[in-house]
Amino acid sequence: MEKQNSVDLSDVYDAAYEQEIGDYRKFVPVLINQVFLRHFIEPGLLEQKSCEDFLNPETHPNKTAFFIIKKLFDYFIDKGNLIQTEDGFFKVVKPIIDEDPNDEKLNAHLKSNPEKRIILQILINIRDIIDKVLFKGEDAMLLMANNNFREAMKVWEQLNAYAQVKVPCHHLVLRVIKNRLKTHKNLNIFEGGAGVGAVMRELSNDKELTDQLAGFKQYYFTDISLSLIKISREWLREHLPAESYDKITFKVVNLDKLEINTPDFAKENAFDIVIFEHVLYDLIDLHKTLTTVRKMLKPDGVLVFTMAYRLRPREFFPFEFMQSTFQSYYTAKLEPEYRENIGYLTIDEWEKSLVRAGFLTYEVYPAREDIEKWPYGGIIAYPST
Ligand SMILES: C[S@@+](CC[C@H](N)C(=O)[O-])C[C@H]1O[C@@H](n2cnc3c(N)ncnc32)[C@H](O)[C@@H]1O
Repeated sequence: MEKQNSVDLSDVYDAAYEQEIGDYRKFVPVLINQVFLRHFIEPGLLEQKSCEDFLNPETHPNKTAFFIIKKLFDYFIDKGNLIQTEDGFFKVVKPIIDEDPNDEKLNAHLKSNPEKRIILQILINIRDIIDKVLFKGEDAMLLMANNNFREAMKVWEQLNAYAQVKVPCHHLVLRVIKNRLKTHKNLNIFEGGAGVGAVMRELSNDKELTDQLAGFKQYYFTDISLSLIKISREWLREHLPAESYDKITFKVVNLDKLEINTPDFAKENAFDIVIFEHVLYDLIDLHKTLTTVRKMLKPDGVLVFTMAYRLRPREFFPFEFMQSTFQSYYTAKLEPEYRENIGYLTIDEWEKSLVRAGFLTYEVYPAREDIEKWPYGGIIAYPST
C-alpha cells in the first residue's frame, strides 16, 4: 500500500533538475541514432539479417550483445521509425537522422557546460566503441578500463558520485536518515553496494549530519569491490572529521550471497536503516535479497533504495543506454509479472516485489505522476511483522 510521502524533495526536483533531464533527453537520442545508423543502416544489416536473426539470443555472443541490440530495436519500433515486415525483416518507415554528424552541437554544449562532461563524455566514448559490444559481446566499461584504467576509474567515480541526474536519489537517502534522527539515537545503518560513496559524499556536505554521524552506532559501508571501498575509504578519511569517520565500518559484502553469508554484524533485527543507492536492481535474485533485508531491519526500521523507473522504450532507453553496454547490468533473474526486463524495474514491478517480500507499505519518489518527467528517484519501504 502506498503511503503518504514523509520526505519533501520539492527543492531538489526543481527547474535546474528539469533542465538536467532535458539535456539528457536532447543529446542522448542523437548518440543512439548515430549508433544505429553507423552499425545497422549504413552497412545494410537490415536487409541482410531477419528479425529472427536480431532477436534470437542464440545468434549473439552473449547476453550483453543480445539485450543491447534488442533494446535498440524496441526503441526505434516504439518511436515509429521501424516496423517488422510480413517477410520477417525490419524496415525503416520514418527516417533515422544524424542530427549532429560532427558532434558540433554536442561539443559546443560541452564547452559552455564543462560539468556536463561527467555523463556525456562517457556516452560519447561508448558510442565510439560500441561495435565491440554489439557484435563481440565485450563490456564497454572494461574496454574503457583496458584503454586507460586510471581514467576509467576516475570516470566511474565521477559518474556515480556526482552525476546530476542522480542527485535527488542521494538527498532522498539523507533525508530518511535525518527523519530517523528526530526520534532515534545510536543509528545502526547498513549500506550495500556503496561503491564510490555517493551517499556519504553528499552527507559530508551537510555539516549538521556529518556531526551527528559521530553519534551513530555504526554505518556499515559495504560493496562487492575492494578497490571501490579503498577509493571511498581514502576520500572519506580526508573529508570527514575523525570522530564521524570512525563510525564507518568498511566491509566487502556480496549482496547476492547475503542470506547464506549474512555477516555477523547483519543479524536479524539489527538495523534502523538499510540503504541501496542504485544497486538493488543489479542483483541476481531480488526476492531473496529483499526477504533477507526485511529480516535484517528492526521492526520499525526502513529500507531506502534508489534507481530509475523503467518506462516505455522511447521515453526510457536514453536513460539506460549506458548501463545496457555493461555486462554487470545483465545478472538479474527474470520472473514473469515481477520482472519482465533485466536492469531497471517499472514502478508496478517494484510494488509487487516489495509486497511479496513483506514490505507492505512504501513511499514512492518522485510522486507517481512525476515519474515520467523525472525517472530517477527511490522508494522508502517499511517491513511488516
Ligand atoms: C551503480 S553502482 C552504485 C553507486 C553507489 N551508490 C556509489 O556511490 O558508487 C553499483 C555498485 O554496486 C556494487 N555491486 C554490484 N553487485 C554487487 C553485489 N552483488 N554485492 C555488493 N555490491 C555489488 C558495485 O560494485 C557498485 O559499486
